[in-house]
This record gives sequence, structure tokens and C-alpha cells, in this order.
Amino acid sequence: MGENRVLEGRRIVVGVSGGIAAYKVCALVSRLVQDGAQVRVMMTPSGERFVGPVTFRSLTGRPVAVDQWTDLHETGAHIALAQFAELMVIAPATSNTLAKLANGLCDNLVTTTVAAARGPVLLAPAMNDHMWTNPVLQANVARLQGLGYEFVMPGEGRLACGESGVGRMAEPNTIRESILRILGARGGGALAGKRVTITSGPTREWLDPVRFISNPSSGKMGAALAQVAASRGAEVLLISGPGAALPAASVDTIAVESAEEMLRAVEAHLPGTDVFIGAAAVADYRPEEYAAQKRKKSATPLELRLQPTPDILQSVAQSDSRPAVVVGFAAETGDPEAEARAKLERKGLDLIVANDLTQPGAGFCADTNEALILGSRGQREAVSCRPKLEVAKVVLDQVEKLLEESSGGREAG
Ligand SMILES: Cc1cc2nc3c(=O)[nH]c(=O)nc-3n(C[C@H](O)[C@H](O)[C@H](O)COP(=O)(O)O)c2cc1C
Repeated sequence: MGENRVLEGRRIVVGVSGGIAAYKVCALVSRLVQDGAQVRVMMTPSGERFVGPVTFRSLTGRPVAVDQWTDLHETGAHIALAQFAELMVIAPATSNTLAKLANGLCDNLVTTTVAAARGPVLLAPAMNDHMWTNPVLQANVARLQGLGYEFVMPGEGRLACGESGVGRMAEPNTIRESILRILGARGGGALAGKRVTITSGPTREWLDPVRFISNPSSGKMGAALAQVAASRGAEVLLISGPGAALPAASVDTIAVESAEEMLRAVEAHLPGTDVFIGAAAVADYRPEEYAAQKRKKSATPLELRLQPTPDILQSVAQSDSRPAVVVGFAAETGDPEAEARAKLERKGLDLIVANDLTQPGAGFCADTNEALILGSRGQREAVSCRPKLEVAKVVLDQVEKLLEESSGGREAG
């Protein structure tokens, strides 16, 4: 596909915050319009002090949104813009705006629109070098990266303040390259046209109206998988247990509580699913009896009989609607490799991702994970401790290989 075709008709919202580099964003917007993209510009009040909205209005031929109270729309300008945007680009992204985004603040049209984003958000920071190396700013950038925001990092050179250093906004062409990469991936990514269903988080098995059996799963790994799969063009469904983390990219999500509910939701969506990833920490047991009234506290021991919950992974792997690729997770404390290999074979999975819960930085709640990926065809890939988003990329690389092999096999047969 020619580069220009990639942006033809694509819907891009550019947010301009208050830095000198705003003048360079005029060139970026002009280029995107020439590429055939549908561009809308929104500005912070500080951004407006650097470049007037008239300039962007002339470049895009569209009104520029600056004030959420006057640029009204039936649903609010922030929702209308967020619905419109396949991609948001914040350029320049000031230290102030990055701090707000890292903390979920919504006090102007740009920050509120980003909070309502349904797709990827690309940030192009620009600032004085001391502002850039400030540890608070760096912590905000790291937080945003961990949440899945895309960055086009500043370069080194002469800064508007007269000093030289890192902080100079990436050149319009470099930002455009990132836009091409993100939108190119979305339109024709390696998982384009594939349906990926992911379970995530814990389940709750209630024993009375106020108590349940559960586990500390945060859902961060499932959210990371959903986000990476969506960025590679997949149609993603996330079936997530209570309190599970949600991906920064918007994906269809179904909230469930118990293992039984999770199984029903999975079964309902299995036909048409190409890839199933069971990243949920499903409770293995549920109380045999649910007491409709709160069980009273007493001095004598309480005995509970527990029943095994349905095995979701196994039922997916053995279903008539079995997806082409079925991936499980195994959180282990013993011999993770042996335990995971046994689980892979017993349940008839294609891949299993084993975590050793005894390792620091692995497993529940952590932002990082260390994993061993094993496959039914003898694949074995050790993934050293790294952010869950990075682990998700390695897992999905393995999934893509299997999909390629299975479609090659079908064609040959
Ligand atoms: C002349 C001038 C240049 C500025 N350039 C930058 C800049 O490049 N990057 C930055 O983070 N802040 C810069 N600032 C500070 C921001 O404009 C200020 O923090 C403002 O509150 C940002 O608001 P906003 O993030 O809502 O746009 C500059 C301020 C002035 C007066």
C-alpha cells in the first residue's frame, strides 16, 4: 500500500498544548490534510496563545475546538471528538498536559477528550531540557507508557529557550511516521480480520451475600494482551472478572463475576473466535451452597464444602467451535515448566504461558512479568522480566506464527 493511501480518509484529532513547538504542528496538520486524512484540531487555552485557531481552521477547513463550554455539541465536544478519532495526536505535549494525562485530570477540552479516547493516543512531548529530565516528568512519561500511550520522543538540539539539550519536539515528519505506523498497523495489522477473545482478572465465588472466594489477580496481563491484539488490528473481546484492569485502547468488554458466568460468556462468543487466550485467574472451587442470608459469626469452626468450578480453558480447547489457537496461562509455585507442560497437554492447548509466582516482578498485581512460553509443537521461549505490555507482544508474536501455519495448512489441504 502506498504511504499516502494509508491516511486517505483516516480520522485524526490533533491536540495542541501550550509550547513554542505549536508552530511546527501547523506543518504537521498541513501535511496530514494533504495526505487525505480528516483532521480536527483541538487546543488548550495555553496552546491558543502560541498559534491562533484561525491558522488551524484554515489548514483543516474545519472549526477548531478550544472551549468545552462554548464549542458545544449534543454530546459535548470531548465525546464527539473522541468518537470521531481513530487516532489522537497531542503535539506539542507540554509537561503540564502530560502530568494531567498521567493522573486522569480532565480540566480542559484536550485532557477531557483524551480521557474519552477509544483508540490509540500518540504523545509528542516538547519542553526545555531541564523540564524533560525532571524526575517527576520522567515518572509521568513512564506511567503513560505503561498504560499503553504511544510516544514520539523529543530529540536533542537547540531549544526555544536558547539552550541546547533534549526536549525539542520530534520533527513533523517523524511524528507523521509514527502516525503511519500506528494507523498502518490498525488498518492492515498482522491480526487484521481475526477475532481474539481474552478472559482476564479474577472470578468471585460467593458463599453468602457478603463473602466470596477469590484471588488477587489484577487483570493487567489480560488488559495488555487486549491492547496489543487491538493495536495489531484484531477485533478483541475482553471478558473480565471484577475489578480487572482495562486496556487503554478501547475494546469490547463483558464484565462477569463467577467462573460459571465467565464460561457462559465465553461459550456465547466462541463461534467465530480465531484466538482464545485464557488469562483469567479463574477460581478452581466454589462453595457448594450459597447462603441467601449472611452466615452468622460464631465461636465454632465453619466448615465449607467446595465444588470444582467448570474448566473454561479445557472446554474451549475441546469445543466443537474450537478456535484455531487456544492459549492458557499457568501461575505456578513448584516446577513451572513441568507443571505448565503437563497442563498444556492435559487440556489440549496450543500455547501456555507459565509464570513462576516465586520470582520477584512476576505474576499477580505486578506491572512486569517473567514468563516461559511453551507450545504443543515443542516451542519454548523464555521471556525475561519486563512490562506486561512487552510480554503480551511476545505472546501474540507466537500466536501469529501459529495462525500463519494453520492458514497455510488449510490452503495446502
Ligand atoms: C514562552 C513560553 C514557552 C513555553 N514553552 C513550553 C514548552 O515548550 N513545553 C512545556 O511543557 N511548557 C512550556 N511552557 C509552559 C506552558 O505553557 C505552561 O506550563 C502551561 O500551563 C501549559 O498549559 P497546557 O498544558 O494546558 O497547554 C511555555 C510557556 C511560555 C510562556
